[in-house]
Amino acid sequence: MTDPFYITTPIYYVNAQPHLGHAYTTIAADVSCRYNFMEKKDVYFQTGTDEHGDKIERAARAEGLGVKEYVDKISGLFKDLWPELKIKYNYFIRTTDPSHIKLVRELLQRIYDAEDIYFHEYEGLYCFGCERFYAERELVNGKCPDHNREPELIKESNYFFRMSKYQDWLMDHIESTPDFIRPKRYKNEVLAFLREPLEDLCISRPKSRLKWGIPLPFDNDYVTYVWFDALINYISGLGYPDGDLFSKFWPAAQHIIAKDILKPHGIYWPIMLKAAGIDIYKHLNVHGYWNIDENKMSKSIGNVIEPLSLIEKYGIDSFRFFLMREMTFGLDSNFSEQSLIERINSDLANDLGNLFSRVLSMGHKYFSGIVPLIDMDAENSFHFSLEKEAIDAVEKFQGSMEEFAFHGGIAAIWGLIRRMNKYIDVTSPWELAKKKSAKKQLEIVIYNLLEGLRVVSGLIYPVMPDASVAMQKHLGLDADEVLKGKFNYIDELKKWNVIKPGTRLLKSIRLFPRIEN
Ligand code: ME8
Ligand code: MG
Repeated sequence: MTDPFYITTPIYYVNAQPHLGHAYTTIAADVSCRYNFMEKKDVYFQTGTDEHGDKIERAARAEGLGVKEYVDKISGLFKDLWPELKIKYNYFIRTTDPSHIKLVRELLQRIYDAEDIYFHEYEGLYCFGCERFYAERELVNGKCPDHNREPELIKESNYFFRMSKYQDWLMDHIESTPDFIRPKRYKNEVLAFLREPLEDLCISRPKSRLKWGIPLPFDNDYVTYVWFDALINYISGLGYPDGDLFSKFWPAAQHIIAKDILKPHGIYWPIMLKAAGIDIYKHLNVHGYWNIDENKMSKSIGNVIEPLSLIEKYGIDSFRFFLMREMTFGLDSNFSEQSLIERINSDLANDLGNLFSRVLSMGHKYFSGIVPLIDMDAENSFHFSLEKEAIDAVEKFQGSMEEFAFHGGIAAIWGLIRRMNKYIDVTSPWELAKKKSAKKQLEIVIYNLLEGLRVVSGLIYPVMPDASVAMQKHLGLDADEVLKGKFNYIDELKKWNVIKPGTRLLKSIRLFPRIEN
């Protein structure tokens, strides 16, 4: 049986167009999915849009559209963007889908019947941007830290979810499952939060104030708080409780989010699942913010970068590479077009692109583009063994990718690329070519370099699928088998002497053109 892998992104609010922040998370999910495909897992990838709540209703009004018409339009923008970014999801969920709405109501009723939801009058500070109440101590200078706006004091009767009841259970779970939330800093952040008394969660909004939501099954004068609705997408999309998808993929569920929504995912969601009698997810993977000049890129600040214009200019593989390489998963990163150009020129055009064209050109120059037959018994490790370096790189790559440390995975590949460039320097094939007696050695050097390129071409597949396929085709690997996975499965990448002597190499190309500044 193949192991399942289920990856989700947040479902994005449809109150504005997708920007680079959304693109990063969704590409990261795609990269992890492609990597797990290379590990021969059975993968399932879900993304989608979050379509209820106050700010969506306001955004529709501001555009002069009916709410449904408006959410259809913006949801479509997200859905249409992902294929352009080479993102291959299995399912796109919308919280306005009838099957989702049905499940939200069922779970509310289940938790209400279990008496974990109660009715209560409440007065509190409410941020309309976040759509939640804030405790005084969470505010920064009296303002919501996310929206930099003072929350409004509102008083109303509402339904509350008894989160406090599950506080100790959740703390125990997080403490006894150290990688439940990762990287560690976010686990610590959630634990710090749980050390304070946990307040019950207000999960309703009166219809007098908000109509655009899922009506509570037990009180028609209220709609459901948008977070209680949205989080359920991760299981409604799998068809819970029916069908095979849920039973197969849910035990392997991994979420990716940015730190802005750590609390709903790290606290509300596991407690909701527990209260509903459903097993909790396996891992929560949390990344930092893309900033522009030290400010979070966000639609409320209005400093957003649109991915499409960058892709047109620099190409999709380079764009994906930059995002995954530049940000240390878990920490914030600053975005600038200048750093994008620098990375493309140094890592892609120079390190990888030059290596690739140099090796292919030598294959043509010295062996007429036909992979030489090598003498296995001849001296094979000139100065160092590329085979060993390649296997080490694959193992480092795996270690990083398992932990969602994409930057580390890429660094492992570039470590190998640099060793290959070094190998060319120390073996000096052009010198070997001058001596008839060194023919065997030249054959081995070029063959090893071609094998190294094969390994590199496989390792870059999750991040740069197009360049990976182009490289493999140039190495004469069967295009069909490349696309089906054979030549980029991890276990194939740990083998050596895979390319068959006699294979015809394609003429060298520039994989990544230099960007003139
Ligand atoms: O919070 N840097 O939706 P949202 C990195 N609907 N990532 C960023 C980012 C930035 N500057 N800006 C946005 C919601 N993101 C809810 C989620 S899930 C059940 C409901 C990404 O449209 C990042 O993934 O505000 C962040 O967590 C998400 O977009 C927030 O998207
Ligand atoms: Mg947001």
